[in-house]
Amino acid sequence: GGAHHLRDGGFSFEGPFGTFDQGQLQRGYKVYREVCAACHSMSLMHFRTLGEKGGPFYDPHAANPAENRYVKALAAEIQVSDIDNETGEPIQRPGIAADAFPSPYPNHTAAAAANGGAAPPDLSVMAKARHGGANYIYSILTGYHTPPAGLKMTNTQHYNAYMSGDLKPFMPEGAATPPGGFIAMPPPLAQDGLVTYDDGTRATKDQMAKDVAAYIAWASEPHAVERKQAGLGVLAFLALFAGVTYVSYRRIWKNVA
Ligand code: HEM
Repeated sequence: GGAHHLRDGGFSFEGPFGTFDQGQLQRGYKVYREVCAACHSMSLMHFRTLGEKGGPFYDPHAANPAENRYVKALAAEIQVSDIDNETGEPIQRPGIAADAFPSPYPNHTAAAAANGGAAPPDLSVMAKARHGGANYIYSILTGYHTPPAGLKMTNTQHYNAYMSGDLKPFMPEGAATPPGGFIAMPPPLAQDGLVTYDDGTRATKDQMAKDVAAYIAWASEPHAVERKQAGLGVLAFLALFAGVTYVSYRRIWKNVA
């Protein structure tokens, strides 16, 4: 039972000094938008956030993220639901920077019905919701191995070596229990070249999985790096302050017998 030890995506943002790789976040956004967003919402994310400091489309020349031309263009590519000001009727219009990402289904019931009974979870905080964060997402996306011989499964289930679960009841009597579990998501990155990267990076299955995992990790906590760096600044200040205090203590008491 249990899942495999997670694969390591070698992510640049791990550790106390880690930062996101902006090129990787841009590639990851493209994978999310062109592949994952067909089924998964990311409803806490707004287009303007893509242009904030540390984000995939941050532009130091656009003082206000809402004025960022990449963000405006990306938002305008997406249709969002709204209400017509004059008629009060529901309409679809191109997105603007202030819009939240639209959801692919109108509600949970529709999402479940379209996916064999399991609604695709919102990806806004997925990297925090699952132990292992980006490495977990990377592992799941690349974990659709050939099912072990004899595994009993229905046609809406897929075997994934990193999904949690217990496959013992689905194996023949006496057979070893394989790692992993069943997942209702069909392998979303089953072939190379599902997206065309603007920076010329080859869109292999592995590369797309890593990039979208990095993007989801950023989206789960867009200000993580700033906070980490502020924390390091505080530590550096405290270390310096401790040193200054010690030296002045020695000076003040130097001639006191
Ligand atoms: C579940 C990511 C594309 C349908 C999940 C989970 C993640 C994920 C992290 C949660 C797994 C867990 O419970 O631990 C992604 C990413 C995608 C993608 C990054 C794009 C690369 C898709 C697509 C579909 C889909 C295109 C629909 C055809 C589902 C469903 C579940 C799911 C139905 C629920 C699975 C279950 O509970 O068994 N996805 N997904 N996903 N996804 Fe996706």
